[in-house]
Amino acid sequence: MTSATASDAHQHEEPTRARELPRPPGPSLPGLAALAARYARNYYALLPELARRYGDVVDVPVPLPGWTVTLVSHPDHVDHIMTRYHQRYVKHEATRELVTGEPPALPLLEGEEWKRTRRPLNPHFGEKALAKVTPQMAEAVTERVESWATREGEWLDLEHELGAVVMDGLMRSMFSEVLPDEKIHRYVEYARDYGFYVIGRAVMYQLPGWIPRPYQRRGIPAKNTLMADLDAQIARRRADGPRDPMDIMDVLLTMEPDFPGTREDRYRRMRSELSGLVFAGFETTAEALAWTLALLTRNPHALARAYEEVDALGGAPLEYAHLERLTYVRACFDEGQRFQAAPGNIRTATEDDEIGGYFIPQGSHVMISPYGLHRDPRFWTEPERFEPQRFLTDTINRNAFVPFNVGPRKCMGMRMAYIEGTLTLAAILQRYSIQVRDGWQPKHQIRVSTGLAGGLPAKLFRR
Ligand code: HEM
Repeated sequence: MTSATASDAHQHEEPTRARELPRPPGPSLPGLAALAARYARNYYALLPELARRYGDVVDVPVPLPGWTVTLVSHPDHVDHIMTRYHQRYVKHEATRELVTGEPPALPLLEGEEWKRTRRPLNPHFGEKALAKVTPQMAEAVTERVESWATREGEWLDLEHELGAVVMDGLMRSMFSEVLPDEKIHRYVEYARDYGFYVIGRAVMYQLPGWIPRPYQRRGIPAKNTLMADLDAQIARRRADGPRDPMDIMDVLLTMEPDFPGTREDRYRRMRSELSGLVFAGFETTAEALAWTLALLTRNPHALARAYEEVDALGGAPLEYAHLERLTYVRACFDEGQRFQAAPGNIRTATEDDEIGGYFIPQGSHVMISPYGLHRDPRFWTEPERFEPQRFLTDTINRNAFVPFNVGPRKCMGMRMAYIEGTLTLAAILQRYSIQVRDGWQPKHQIRVSTGLAGGLPAKLFRR
């Protein structure tokens, strides 16, 4: 579906010459302020509007000293930054505020340290390894979804409940921990509180540390409790010895001696990696599920097809082998994430570069808008329509669909997310019809992973 842009034909291979190129067009600062005010209630749409007005490469005049920001909106430019010339870009320093432990874990590492950490973990997030842990995942999903039957006809916040499904699935499949119901729900609350806090920290990262951050009074104790529980889990595992086959906790305990620093440093790093995986896998999967379910309830035609596919399994307990028969359900998960979409993803240039014929100075920031890319009519047919079928029949431009990002820094847990997402949707559809308040529509809420403003209030009825 993509066509190469004219500027790609003379893609700059020598960034040193880039300085001769112009900076891209963009609004004046007052112009940007006026536009931002107009989009205050629909701020996810601000960046796509800038692209619509000024083009695929836009100079965004951010009023912070030393900040040069370029918004890029063509999939070829995503490919440039995230894949082809990924070594010219690093994660923005505000991303470091999203840490779960010190020293930072894999998603925040760069260069050789990142490679050294990701390489040995990769196979454990591959199809073969995940097939082995799917029974634990499926057990968590089925038990949780089944337990909702006791609250048939009551108003539930399905966004929270889906958080509990995902948390339980992660705990069982990565740490072999079957935790009491009440603890899982508390972990969901703690992880959310910590998530709100770190997002505030990232936004305010240039302000002095003595200025209190939003959610600090809940976020810090929440994190401390989660970390203390993780310490206890690690200690128990050390006493019991590894599982057979090894789970992710065993894998990281095995990697611990190879981390740099003192014994204490190595322990903290291993713990940081473990908590980082939960943090990276929890809210992302839970919110993708909440969006998908919310949109299915608003689109009876797609919902009917999803029911049909799930019913063809004949009510069988879900297992890994069913995934290949749940292609439409998986497509719903994709389409849900296409609508959900993050407002932006930002990188910092480590050297001068050229994008689309414009100069990108070293140390400046480039921003992509997944929200904008996922709705760009140049790359999607009728983008405002919820149409999961497109993921089964259309040619999708992989740089215009970036829920997991692309390139070497692509999500390591993507396959796990598809397994958990597809099984959870199927388990729900096997059992329930879903009723959402008339007129309710999903609205974007900024979080670590885009959430639903006001949650997902719904009633479930046994089918
Ligand atoms: C629907 C669910 C998920 C979504 C939408 C998602 C999204 C993402 C995105 C966009 C990135 C790249 C960030 C960037 O490059 O700026 C990422 C990285 C990562 N994700 Fe996920 N993720 C999901 C589930 C998971 C799960 C289940 C796990 C593991 C349990 C996980 C572990 C990671 C890790 C470790 C990284 C860092 C990879 C690296 O930097 O090399 N994610 N994820």
